[in-house]
Amino acid sequence: MKKLYTLLVLFPVLAFALIAAKVTTQDATSSLIGSAETNSERMIRQGRQIFQFDTFGDQAFWGGQLKLHQTINTLTPKQALALGLKIDSEALPPAVLQAIQNGTVNLNDPAVTLLLIKLKAVLGVLGFFNQNGTLSSVGLTCAVCHSTVDDSVAPSVGRRIDGLANRDLNVGAIAASAPNLQPVVELLRLAHPTITENQVRSILMTWGPGKFDAELFLDGKAFNPQQVTNAVVTGTNVSGATLIPNARGLSGHNLHTWTGGWGTVTYWNAFVAVNELHGKGTFFDERFDNPQQFPIAAKAKLGHVATDPDSDKVTSKLPALHFYQLALPALKPRPGVDFDPDAAERGDKLFSDKANCNSCHREPLWTEPGWNQHSPGEMKIDGFEASRAPASINASGKPVHGYRTMNLAGLFVRERGLFMFPQDKGRFYHDGRFKTLLDVVNSYDARFNLNLTDQEKHDLIEYLKSL
Ligand code: HEC
Ligand code: HEC
Repeated sequence: MKKLYTLLVLFPVLAFALIAAKVTTQDATSSLIGSAETNSERMIRQGRQIFQFDTFGDQAFWGGQLKLHQTINTLTPKQALALGLKIDSEALPPAVLQAIQNGTVNLNDPAVTLLLIKLKAVLGVLGFFNQNGTLSSVGLTCAVCHSTVDDSVAPSVGRRIDGLANRDLNVGAIAASAPNLQPVVELLRLAHPTITENQVRSILMTWGPGKFDAELFLDGKAFNPQQVTNAVVTGTNVSGATLIPNARGLSGHNLHTWTGGWGTVTYWNAFVAVNELHGKGTFFDERFDNPQQFPIAAKAKLGHVATDPDSDKVTSKLPALHFYQLALPALKPRPGVDFDPDAAERGDKLFSDKANCNSCHREPLWTEPGWNQHSPGEMKIDGFEASRAPASINASGKPVHGYRTMNLAGLFVRERGLFMFPQDKGRFYHDGRFKTLLDVVNSYDARFNLNLTDQEKHDLIEYLKSL
């Protein structure tokens, strides 16, 4: 009896001790091993914050050197919207939102632009303010080019969508409006010793909405001298700028960017943050040392940028930034709204059979698992843009430049012009040479002798819109 009594008394104590021991071991093990779920939530939270709001210290360039804030201090909201800047409605207090909805906001008052920037409502534009409310500097983030809004409040005003390109944004016009372009001129003089500030401004003005020329500041090539024949862009000496690509649905893809010649998402993130946005960070790539291909990058040593770890504002952010971008899913088209399901089903067959698209755009990744790049010869298009990226080595040891097999998921958004001004809908391939998906399909039909009928082209397009 006494034994039983002791047991009964002891049992809860023992049980408690055992549970406590288990909990501590679990704690010890989980802090040792970590949890994928907790980690991914944290990385996505941090990555989103970086993508939307982190300037990596680049205000020292955009404000400090180019004095872009001086332009913005007198920029009316009307001008800001015309340049393609987008407003995050969720960052607006109810009164401001109401005023926009009622149309009572003064679109000609630069103070309104400054208020919107102060509220962190202008996508990708971060302001630093004087006591009197004017800007003392300005920095840019990834979101300026790679986010747009759903237009739910008004055109260019709505909820943020990260990863969808802002195809309205006129990056060239924004840069050209900076009071001091001398730092850019000096960079370009490494390839063109006599280039003037006016010439640089006019090059920037050739880019147009939705485009940016990242390679210009490495190779100094502003125009494509090769013959381009197609629907929208035709002729020689077309701008070397490329479309801002879709940056959703990218996980599982090996090579990135239009050419695939640079590397992965995280490679490009480090490069852009340091050498394009001019944030304070570290970036290495010895391929930049080739003076024939990269006359500017080689001289300016852009492949050897080192910042000491205590002042580096980029390197520690790369893991979360990478993770966040890979977490962004492609937009999902709605059957019957965004595409015709019956036609799409017929198009599905064509995609794999007669039209042979699946030989490169592998379902359901829409690029090749493995080496997802093709030479200009294989693509039967000019090789200008491909030649601007580093080459890889082919089977016979020759260097080859290529184009990356682009993702097709979420393509319907661009064909419909959803979340974009209607005049800017569409535009496909690296330089936007095709305006519509029909232009794309017609071009494949001609380049690869597919002999598609009009009905087949229609079905194939409905299928492309269903991805
Ligand atoms: C000034 C506009 C602009 C800004 C700012 C910008 N990008 Fe880009 N981004 C582009 C363009 C244009 C390309 C295509 C470049 C190419 O292929 O030559 C691109 C390509 C990419 C790609 C490749 C997508 C794919 O399909 O593989 C990723 C990822 C990316 N950018 C991430 C970022 C991140 C992260 C930042 C911030 C550090 C950033 N970008 C800032 C314009 C911009
Ligand atoms: C030999 C490989 C290959 C084949 C076959 C191929 N593609 Fe492509 N596709 C590519 C590459 C590479 C690109 C990027 C080209 C560029 O930007 O210059 C691309 C780009 C595209 C784009 C534009 C994507 C964007 O973001 O602008 C569409 C749409 C497309 N392909 C559809 C098709 C269709 C439809 C077919 C079949 C008729 C097809 N492709 C066949 C390799 C291929």
